[in-house]
Amino acid sequence: MDSKRPSESSVETRYLLMPHQANPHGNAFGGVIMAWIDMVASMAAQRHCGREVVTLSVDSLIFKKPIYVGDHVVLKSSVNYVGNTSMEVGVKVIKEDPYSHEQIITTTSYLTFVSLDINKRPAVVIPISPETEEEKRRYKNAKLRVNIRKEILKKIE
Ligand SMILES: CC(C)(COP(=O)(O)OP(=O)(O)OC[C@H]1O[C@@H](n2cnc3c(N)ncnc32)[C@H](O)[C@@H]1OP(=O)(O)O)[C@@H](O)C(=O)NCCC(=O)NCCS
Repeated sequence: MDSKRPSESSVETRYLLMPHQANPHGNAFGGVIMAWIDMVASMAAQRHCGREVVTLSVDSLIFKKPIYVGDHVVLKSSVNYVGNTSMEVGVKVIKEDPYSHEQIITTTSYLTFVSLDINKRPAVVIPISPETEEEKRRYKNAKLRVNIRKEILKKIE
């Protein structure tokens, strides 16, 4: 296999926000959502490269809308872009009303993972082949973000 489609490694999971996962006002505790994001993103990265992965960076994390105790929390992750040994994964967090099933996007995040070989050294990752218009848009935008991050690194180091 020379490449994989994003849909071959994408992950979707769902939680119910419980009281111990909220702050004193009943909103989701950000750290809980961040842990869920890291987990669902790492699974997509693992599924893409078929190896152990580590989180290199959380490049962007935006809490756009609150999540409350009792909401269903749906997390969707997919590999947007692949470098040589790294992968950018996008995560969308959606809250769903448990009764009406109304869905609202609450959080979006981009993370970078590095694939590791058995010696824990970065390993080359199989390329990604976006197929749908949405996958192609995500790939194009992720490539732009990766290049911008490289430019910033060059300027500040
Ligand atoms: C991830 C890790 C293995 C990378 O090691 P490294 O020596 O920097 O490896 P490399 O220099 O070969 O870089 C590997 C990839 O990461 C990218 N990278 C490394 N540092 C980066 C930075 N500061 N910003 C952006 N990208 C970076 C490189 O561009 C390369 O990507 P590419 O191969 O797709 O071009 C190492 O930093 C590490 O072990 N970090 C700790 C991970 C961890 O514990 N995470 C938390 C728990 S999972």
